[in-house]
Amino acid sequence: MRKILCSLLLTASIISSCTSQPTRVASPDGAISLAFSLNEKGGMHYQVAVNNQSFILPSALGFEEQSGLNLADNFEVKGVDFDTHKETWTQPWGENKTLESHYNEMAVRLNNDSGVELTVRFRVFDDGLGFRYEYATPADSLLLMNELTAFTFAENGTSWSTEAHFDTYELNYRTLPIDELENANTPVTFKTQSGVYASIHEAALTDFPDMTLLQTTGTAFKSNLAHWPDGVKARFDSGTFKTPWRTIQVAQEAVGLINSSLILNLNEPSVLEGDLSWIRPMKYVGIWWGMHLGIESWVINDRHGATTENAKKYIDFAAANNIEGVLAEGWNSGWESWGRPSHVPFDYTMPYADFDMDEITRYAKEKGVEFLGHHETGGDIVNYERQLEDAFEWTKEKGINHIKTGYAGPVSDGHQRHDQFMVRHYRKVVERAAAHKITLNVHEPIKPTGIRRTYPNMMTREGARGMEWNAWSEGNAPAHHAILPFTRLLGGPMDYTPGTFDILFENTRNLPQRKKWNGNDKGNSRVNTTLAKQMANWVVLYSPIQMASDLVEHYEGHPCFQFFRDFDADSDWSEALQGEPGEFIAVVRRAKDNFFLGATTNEEARTLTIPLTFLEEGVKYTATIYADGDDADWETNPTAYKIEEQRVTVADTLTVMMAKGGGQAVSFMAIE
Ligand code: NOJ
Ligand code: CA
Repeated sequence: MRKILCSLLLTASIISSCTSQPTRVASPDGAISLAFSLNEKGGMHYQVAVNNQSFILPSALGFEEQSGLNLADNFEVKGVDFDTHKETWTQPWGENKTLESHYNEMAVRLNNDSGVELTVRFRVFDDGLGFRYEYATPADSLLLMNELTAFTFAENGTSWSTEAHFDTYELNYRTLPIDELENANTPVTFKTQSGVYASIHEAALTDFPDMTLLQTTGTAFKSNLAHWPDGVKARFDSGTFKTPWRTIQVAQEAVGLINSSLILNLNEPSVLEGDLSWIRPMKYVGIWWGMHLGIESWVINDRHGATTENAKKYIDFAAANNIEGVLAEGWNSGWESWGRPSHVPFDYTMPYADFDMDEITRYAKEKGVEFLGHHETGGDIVNYERQLEDAFEWTKEKGINHIKTGYAGPVSDGHQRHDQFMVRHYRKVVERAAAHKITLNVHEPIKPTGIRRTYPNMMTREGARGMEWNAWSEGNAPAHHAILPFTRLLGGPMDYTPGTFDILFENTRNLPQRKKWNGNDKGNSRVNTTLAKQMANWVVLYSPIQMASDLVEHYEGHPCFQFFRDFDADSDWSEALQGEPGEFIAVVRRAKDNFFLGATTNEEARTLTIPLTFLEEGVKYTATIYADGDDADWETNPTAYKIEEQRVTVADTLTVMMAKGGGQAVSFMAIE
């Protein structure tokens, strides 16, 4: 008789099994427990309880393979191995440089009558859980057609997500009852009726398609993977494969999701050795916003943004304002046919005639500023991979250590931007960049799943609607920035590029050289926040490579720009202090001896009371408070601000008043 694990009963207080096989694993603090079971067909299920209350009901596990190889049932349990792991580890940069990983592991070893061997490895932490499949089959190759992994919530509640899409994450967020959520990109965040917060995502997505969620019924969801042009979800040249971790972060407070390191803890340690001083967080400005506003162009013409003269102007500004980097887009040939189906390929070693790369990089070096390169691929992967080695070599020869990449355009050969082919491509670029000691900022990326731990040169990426959307569309709603930290940013840093000071585009809207370049532009675009919220987002929307997005002339002489001058993107420690998805958020970060606080709100004005208990005992700080003006309002009076200075210590409490669509940024500079 098959030695099945009898159906498990998940009651209010216990998870019991009617076999002697251990099938249950709990978090170190005991609050989260997970049970694995086989049904009468030998099909695999897991279920989760939080605080002794059912949280995930029995939910299926497994895959379907094209040839009919059985990857889903007729399984027997061969054995179950338990382990406990506790470790403190460090990373060269991050929200937190020192992290703790503490979990209990349950590895369930199974086989079936098709000769399939499988380990389902579960890891349960105090802040959630992850599980992955490790298959070894007799097949020579595999074509996965469907992932069965399900997530069946025991209760209804609220969810925050973007719609599932295999080609873009640049979408507006929806706040929906869980049972009205038809599908979602991950990370997708939930709050159950009992008040438990959770986020479903994945960790270590390295050779698999992107997972989205698809509603099956009510509060039940299943994995829905991006696919190759022929419909295959994942293909392997051998009979073995290991999936990314399917993750469920769990927290009692919404900010607990942000303060969790689960995704990083489920990734492999860094493979980069030796001197990593080439991997450096930094602040940057760039020849960028002018193109999005339509007053400059990427392509060479009389409106060209990336000229030698303009680059030098930005380098001078950076040098004078404690900013480490300058980006220039539109520096290389190929932009003339960007986005067209038949195009002249981008050339990553061919600067435009009015952009003297040697002189610019020489000048940047002289001024102590890093020049940041840019590779727009337009989605032409074939062209990019063909040039990759030469491009990185050439880049390094020019003394450039950082590249922003982009994939704005249809992907080669009908691929979806998030399919396995593209996941492999993004991974290859990270690996080759690392080999050349190049750090990366990827736009139109694959979503972040913690690869930055293994390859810390993979520093930041886009992967949600960023600042650019404000330039040429209806823009990002005030709630957007209060949802991002609880969803997209749970995966990792984002190059949102905050900091536009000319909120209403007053200085550029009517310039004669302004041209619409994008069909989304209805002529009514603006930034939908107050000015103080723009500053706060430098702290809230974490990126180790943090941009001040506006034209530098809008910062010259502006009193608020002192915040960015003082700001240090190289944070050592961070904590999300207060917040609710879609409503508000307050985050503090320490960088060396100084602290930076950012708080933002949605359309509602609100006041937060923040005890400064995070400050060092015995140290006095000059707190400079960049607040919304008394009559500020994102809609009617977005640029009203006030700046106040106070002496504070750990014993003080700050009252943070935010206007509608507003925010507040505070620097706490330690006094010697
Ligand atoms: C989209 C990117 O998100 C943006 O930052 C960039 O300027 C354009 N593509 C052009 O590469
Ligand atoms: Ca983009």
